[in-house]
Amino acid sequence: MKNNPFLETQRLFIRPVRLHDFTELAAIWADPKVMQFIDGSKTQAESKTQLKHWIVDYEKQGYGFIALQCKSNGKIIGNSGFLRQVLDSKVYIELGYCLAQEYWGQGYATEAVTALIHYGFSVLKFPELIAIIREENLASLQVANKIGLRLLKIMAVDGQRSKIFHILRGDYENSS
Ligand SMILES: CC(C)(COP(=O)(O)OP(=O)(O)OC[C@H]1O[C@@H](n2cnc3c(N)ncnc32)[C@H](O)[C@@H]1OP(=O)(O)O)[C@@H](O)C(=O)NCCC(=O)NCCS
Repeated sequence: MKNNPFLETQRLFIRPVRLHDFTELAAIWADPKVMQFIDGSKTQAESKTQLKHWIVDYEKQGYGFIALQCKSNGKIIGNSGFLRQVLDSKVYIELGYCLAQEYWGQGYATEAVTALIHYGFSVLKFPELIAIIREENLASLQVANKIGLRLLKIMAVDGQRSKIFHILRGDYENSS
């Protein structure tokens, strides 16, 4: 089950990350432009460690980091994922997303995140989802806007002024 897609959109298969994804994901995470507003580019060794942690976490928690696979060419074009975050002593589930540059500007993030919000509320039953977005990350702010996230607050996260967007399961269910 864990190696099979659990979601399918028009153009993507969406499934937990696995070790086999290493080469493609490491190439994405090595790109400084992709990682500019996340936590900086990663070496091969850092990527391998991160990927292994994510695989273990997913198995333990039943949710976590997710590979986005392009149906048309079979390539891993990025990752998304549900990540536990503590902000101001409150536990949240953050929905993150990150794509290889060559796939930017084609609606892939919006497509993936829309499906993942539905999955997060209808299957995983999260009460709320947040996105943590640096103020300068205009593309990500636009994705948040397009998928209906609302600004919750502005605060420093890891020393960087960030906008915290959120959506509540109740509001999502009432609007769908
Ligand atoms: C953020 C990211 C995932 C968006 O992916 P994407 O597939 O290009 O997103 P979409 O195509 O679904 O939507 C992007 C929107 O931002 C807009 N956009 C892109 N660059 C922009 C910019 N510099 N200023 C304003 N809007 C911008 C696009 O026009 C599009 O909006 P539109 O559909 O209304 O025209 C991608 O840029 C990325 O991987 N960035 C690096 C990793 C990252 O920062 N992740 C988010 C961390 S919070």
